[in-house]
Amino acid sequence: MTMSLTLLQGTYIVAGLLFILALAGLSKHESAKAGNRYGIIGMAIALVVTVLAAVGGINGVGTANDREGTGVLGLGLILAAMAIGAVIGIARAKRVEMTGMPELIALLHSFVGLAAVLVGWNSSYEKGIAHPAIHDAEVFIGVFIGAVTLTGSIVAYLKLSAKMKSAPMMLPGRHVINLGIIVAFFVLTAVYVLMPHEQEFTRQLLLGVMTLLALFLGWHLVASIGGGDMPVVVSMLNSYSGWAAAAAGFLLNNDLLIITGALVGSSGAYLSYIMCKAMNRSFLSVIAGGFGSDGGVVGEAKDYGEHREIQADGAAELLRDASSVIITPGYGMATAQAQYAVADLTSKLRAKGVNVRFGIHPVAGRLPGHMNVLLAEAKVPYDIVLEMDEINDDFADTDVVLVIGANDTVNPAANEDPSSPIAGMPVLEVWNARDVIVFKRSMATGYAGVQNPLFFRENTQMLFGDAKERVEDIIRAL
Ligand code: TAP
Repeated sequence: MTMSLTLLQGTYIVAGLLFILALAGLSKHESAKAGNRYGIIGMAIALVVTVLAAVGGINGVGTANDREGTGVLGLGLILAAMAIGAVIGIARAKRVEMTGMPELIALLHSFVGLAAVLVGWNSSYEKGIAHPAIHDAEVFIGVFIGAVTLTGSIVAYLKLSAKMKSAPMMLPGRHVINLGIIVAFFVLTAVYVLMPHEQEFTRQLLLGVMTLLALFLGWHLVASIGGGDMPVVVSMLNSYSGWAAAAAGFLLNNDLLIITGALVGSSGAYLSYIMCKAMNRSFLSVIAGGFGSDGGVVGEAKDYGEHREIQADGAAELLRDASSVIITPGYGMATAQAQYAVADLTSKLRAKGVNVRFGIHPVAGRLPGHMNVLLAEAKVPYDIVLEMDEINDDFADTDVVLVIGANDTVNPAANEDPSSPIAGMPVLEVWNARDVIVFKRSMATGYAGVQNPLFFRENTQMLFGDAKERVEDIIRAL
C-alpha cells in the first residue's frame, strides 16, 4: 500500500519530538527512565513507518525507487535483516557486563560509520539524480565521516577493551598528516563534484582513494590519543556517528535519519565539550586529534617513599569516630560490583548520624555517568551524590574519605606535576581530608598508566583487596 507523504512526515515529526523528549529526560537521574521509554517508542514508530514506506512506496515524491517501494520481496529481506540483527543484539546485550559497556558502545559506533560508508558507495552508483553536484558532495562527505567513524571507533574499542595498548601513538609530524588528509579531502571533493559522470572509473577511483585516506585518518586520530583522554574520544566518536547517520539520511532522502543524526551529533559534540572542560582540554585540539599527551611519560616510575596499610577493622574504627565521610568511587567499584555493599555501608553510617556524601568525577569509570548509574542501581539517594565541582572545597572539613577503586581521578600529580600525562585535569582533592582510605588490590597504576602520589601521603592508608569484599568486611566490623 502506497503511503501518503503527509502521513509519513507527520509520523516522523512525532518520532523526532519523542527523541528530543528522550534526550531531555536522559539529562537528569530522576527522568532518565522516562527518557529511555520516549526513545524506545520514538524508534519503534520510526522503524514501522519507514519499513511500510520503503515496502509500499511514497505518493508522488523522491526518486522512482521511493515512489514504487520494494514490494513484498523487499519486506522479506528487511524483516530477515532485522531478525538477524535483533538476535545478535539481544544475545550481546544479555551477556555484556556494565564494565564492558564502553567498548560495546565504541563497537556500535563503528557500525554506524560502516553503514554510512556503504550507503554512500551504493548511492554513488545511482543514476538520474535531480541535482548531481549536491548529490556527489553528499556522497563524498557521507563516506568521509563514515570511514573516520568506522576505524576511529574500532581503535577506541581495542583500546577500551585493553586489546591495544592505551599509550598514545606518536607518529612524527602527526598534525601535518591529519591536516594534509583534510586538505586532500576538500580537493578531492571539488574534483569529484566537477568531474563529468561519464568518467565513471576515475570517479570511483577518487572515491576509493578518499575512503582509504579517511579510514587511515580515523585510525590515526584515535591511536594518537593517550589513555587518560579516552573519555573525550568516546563522546567525540558518539558525535561523529550522529553526523555519519545524518549524512546517510541525506543520501537516502530520509528526513528522520537527518533529524536523529543531527540530534546525536550535536548532543555528542556538547558532551565532548563538557568532557573537555572537565579534563581541562581544548575542544579544538580534541577535534584535531592527538591531543593532551604531548611530552607526558606514561608509567614513569618515581620514588614517592613508603605507603601505609590499614585493615578492615582499622577502617571501621576510623569510620566509627567520623562525623563526615566522603566516598569517591572509580572504575574499580564497577569491576568489583561493590556498589550494593557501598550503598549498604552508606545507610549504616547515616543511621549512626554520620554525614555521608559521594564525590563523582566527570570521567570516573569508563563511561559518562558510569558511577551515577551504578549508585542509582544500588538505590543511593540522589541528593547525597555530588559532582566534583560541588564537593571539592569540602574535603578540608571532612574526617574520612573512602576512595573506592578510583585512581586517576584522585591523582594529585594532575595538579602538581606539569610533566604528567594527566597534568591540568581537575581531580577530586581527597588528600585535603583528615584521613584517606584507598580501596584497591595492589599499587598498580590506573587507566592513564601514571603513578599516584596520593598513595604515599601521610594521611593516606591503603586497604588492599577486592573493593566489594573489603567494604563487606568493614560492614561486619562496624
Ligand atoms: P582508574 O584510574 O581506571 O583506576 C581504577 C582502579 O581501580 C585501578 O587502579 C585498580 O587498581 C582498581 N581496581 C580494579 N579492580 C578493582 C577491584 N575489584 N577492587 C578494588 N579496586 C579495583 O579509575 P578512575 O579514577 O575511575 O579513572 C577513570 C580513568 O578512565 C581516567 O583515566 C579516565 O580518563 C579514563 N576513562 C574514562 C572514561 C569515561 S567517559 N569515564 C572513558 C574512557 C577512559 P588495582 O588493579 O590495584 O586493583
